[in-house]
Amino acid sequence: MFFLPEKLDHYVVEHSEQEPQLLQELTRETYQKILQPIMLSGPYQGRVLSMISKLVRPKIILELGTFTGYATLCLAEGLQIDGEIHTIDINEELHDFQRKYFDKSGFGEQIIQHTGNALDIIPSLDMSFDLVFIDADKPNYSNYFHLIINKLNPGGIILSDNVLWHGKVVEPLNDKDKSTKAVLDYNTLLKSDERVETVLLPIRDGLTISRKK
Ligand SMILES: C[S@@+](CC[C@H](N)C(=O)[O-])C[C@H]1O[C@@H](n2cnc3c(N)ncnc32)[C@H](O)[C@@H]1O
Repeated sequence: MFFLPEKLDHYVVEHSEQEPQLLQELTRETYQKILQPIMLSGPYQGRVLSMISKLVRPKIILELGTFTGYATLCLAEGLQIDGEIHTIDINEELHDFQRKYFDKSGFGEQIIQHTGNALDIIPSLDMSFDLVFIDADKPNYSNYFHLIINKLNPGGIILSDNVLWHGKVVEPLNDKDKSTKAVLDYNTLLKSDERVETVLLPIRDGLTISRKK
């Protein structure tokens, strides 16, 4: 979905960094072998994630929803030399695919994969984070926020993906549509929670930046 007129959207992409070769390969193989390849962050959002991570220079990153590892590798580009990224996905079948690309990237030793439900795994991570990327199941976005906020360092950043939910956030709400309701509630939570300051960016499907005060 284009929120900008298509021509302008192409202009924006053409005048931004190109995605690295390895991510092009990862994308090709994801489209060949994995269901729902549309879930990939993609080249433009990937460069945005990489840029934000390079600006933050995080020591520890947490990602919820690894999928085939596209965003993991973008975020890893900004890690401190001794930093690490913990990435969680519930789908164990993706593990070996992810690992193949992590090891090819040069960030392999800095990427720690966790397989299981993020709701169970986050409380077991005994560490605090500088940067968190929330990109797993929408109905749990608010639960993830509550699990993470006390583990986020002051000045730490939460990036939340798909917060415009294909534009459904401004359409009449269907009672059965749990995901849209969850995204609406989540956006209200980020705006009203006094522990963070929040800006929603109309990038791709909507990307919110929240900074812990
Ligand atoms: C949109 S994809 C992530 C895309 C990835 N971050 C990227 O940019 O390429 C969402 C992922 O969240 C995972 N997921 C869904 N529910 C989850 C849960 N409760 N805990 C952990 N992962 C979950 C799915 O298996 C899927 O791979």
